[in-house]
This record gives sequence, structure tokens and C-alpha cells, in this order.
Amino acid sequence: MNTRARVDLAPIPFIDLAAQRRRLGSAIDEAIARVTAHCRFIDGPEVAAFEAELAAFCGARFAVGCASGTDALLLVLMAKGIGRGDAVICPAFTFCATAEVVVLTGATPVFADVDAETFNLDGASLKRAVAAAKRHDLKAKAVIPVDLFGLPADHDAVAAVAKAENLFVLDDAAQAFGATYRGRKLGTLAPATATSFFPAKPLGCYGDGGAVLTDDARLVELLKSLRVHGQGSDKYDNVRIGMTGRLDTIQAAVLIEKLKIFADEIAARDVVARRYATGLQDVVTVPGVPEGLASVWAQYTIRLPEGRRDGFAAALKQKGVPTAIYYPKPLHRLEAYRNFPVVDNGIPVTDRLAGEVISLPMHAYLDAPTQDRIIEAVREALKS
Ligand SMILES: Cc1ncc(COP(=O)(O)O)c(C=O)c1O
Repeated sequence: MNTRARVDLAPIPFIDLAAQRRRLGSAIDEAIARVTAHCRFIDGPEVAAFEAELAAFCGARFAVGCASGTDALLLVLMAKGIGRGDAVICPAFTFCATAEVVVLTGATPVFADVDAETFNLDGASLKRAVAAAKRHDLKAKAVIPVDLFGLPADHDAVAAVAKAENLFVLDDAAQAFGATYRGRKLGTLAPATATSFFPAKPLGCYGDGGAVLTDDARLVELLKSLRVHGQGSDKYDNVRIGMTGRLDTIQAAVLIEKLKIFADEIAARDVVARRYATGLQDVVTVPGVPEGLASVWAQYTIRLPEGRRDGFAAALKQKGVPTAIYYPKPLHRLEAYRNFPVVDNGIPVTDRLAGEVISLPMHAYLDAPTQDRIIEAVREALKS
């Protein structure tokens, strides 16, 4: 095999965290070394510094660091007193954590359908889900729209239903911190927004981490108590039931360095997404971005006609191009979630998407020649 052929078959990473590390040079190692020198591993000065910078980045008044995106969601539901007898509406096409936190509070998730173009919560289905909750003798208390794959949900539509039905809105922006909705950054679109710093997320740390963004000072007070076992005036004065849900100092130190290049990375991801669209839109359904919205492209997810996906993925794998399926089973079909209520007309769009979607490599450091190789492999695979 000649050298060129070997290069053409070398496996391409799905997400290239090493490329980002090379760009950051020694900055992260030095930030971690500062923490290991001062030894304030819990609640060190980097945590508050990062919270301030994160809030400033998106325009929220406050950010509260948490141990994960899941904890960020859970802590907000706990702070809002959501529990037994309450319903929280969730899209069925999302990662399980969106609904898992609802069940952990003792409340019941009610699943709604999504829009076929954006993959995000459908406003009409949200309304039906409120009716479904009532039929199950549940009080619909909150909705968790998800900004799936980095694209903001239809926040105006969600807010309209939430206002009419008196629902608290908790935005699950685990995949989408940094994205923009009609001139505003996520973190400011709902009374509370949760995000995740899982390493593969657009803004990821070197382990688990998350945050809540909000303008509500009382909510911040409750979250800060709940993330340290419901502490009152000090940590041995426990005034409510909480948990260990803090962001580690080392992770905050890593995130401070990564936040410095995040805006630039978002722009680079958008270039990659546009190049995919140009190279693929005539052969496959590429993701659309509604007017006035900007995605951070946590995933670049295309749709194939049903039944084509396995062969397509195998053909790409042979050429060293990895793919991933988010999500092969929607929540209402997972064993742990299938007994929870769904909207009365079912969830047909989610069911269809689960059989059609497949995600291509996406990160800020995907260079043009590598991406051209992916585009060519996709076009070839679709021919066969
Ligand atoms: C939509 C969504 N919600 C919540 C989470 C949970 O975040 P974490 O893994 O940080 O707990 C994730 C993480 O993958 C997610 O994709």
C-alpha cells in the first residue's frame, strides 16, 4: 500500500481532545499545578472565578458550578420543590439524564414529541403533554426543553405554553452552552439553565462538571446550600436535604483556560458545519438552523432513509470514519422509562428520528482535508 492510501485509511477521531490540548500548550497543566500547590481542592478560589466568567460569557447574572450536568438539573428541581404528584414535561428524544432527574425527585416525567427539522421539543406536543399529565392526576409543574446537539430549542414557543400553564422552565443546555437564540445566549432564555462540562461537550472539562445559569438570587442561595448537603450558616448546620454536588476546583481551573478560547472554537465548529452542509446537502438530509439561531454543533447529525443506517456506518468505518447514533432508543422506549406517560397521540417524530439519525465527526480542529475525506466517504457510502 502506498503512503497516500495509508493516510486515507487512518482512523479519524470522532472528537479530537488532543488537538485542543496541543493548542492550549502548557496553560492547563499550569492551572492544575496552581491548584495542587494551594491544595484547596474543594471550593478553591478558581470555582468562584470560573462561575463569574461563565455567567459573564452568556449574560446571566449568576452561575453555580455543579459536579455534573445531571446534578445541575437535579439541584434546580430540588430547589423548586418538585416531587411526588408533580409532572415535568420532557422531550422523548434526548439523553436519559433529562428525565432521570425528574424521577429522582419523586416526580413523573411526561414525554412529548419533537420537531422533525430541529429535533427539539414541539410546542403543540408540549401542550398535549400538559393535558396528559392532568389525565394522570399529576400537577404539571415544569418543563425541561433540551437544546439538542447544540441547537437552541424553540424557547419562545416553550415560554408561551409555560406562561399559559404556569410551568417552571428548566433549560437543559447540557449540549449547547454558547449557542444563541434571537440575539441572546443560552443561560438567559429560561429562569434556570443547566449545562454539562463532560469532556466531549463543546465546553468540556477533564472529568465531570456542570453549572446552573440564572438571574434569580434566591435560587442561587438554595442551589449553593443544596450542593453542600443543604447547609445553612455552615456545613454542619443542615437546614434542608441536599447532596454532594459541587464543581471540583481542578475542573474550574481547567474550565477557566478553556473558556478563553471557547468563542473562537464555536466559530471554528460553525465553519466545519457549513462545510458539511455544502458538501452533503444534495445527497442527505443535513441539519437545519432556524433563522436567528446559532448552534454550537455538539453533534453534526444527518438523517438517512430508514434501513440504510447500519450499512452506511459499516461503509464509513471501513474508511476510518467513525459515526455515532444519538439516540437509537428514545426515552419512552427504554426499559427504565417506558412506563411513564406520553402524549396521547404518541411520539411519531421521535420514533422516526431514532431510526434515521447518525452523527459525523465534529470538533473545532477538524481540518479541511480530513473533512473532505469524510464528505467523500459519506457520498460514496450513499451511492452503494
Ligand atoms: C441532554 C443532556 N442532558 C443532561 C446531560 C447530563 O450531563 P452530565 O453527563 O454532565 O451529567 C447530558 C450529558 O450527556 C445531556 O446530553
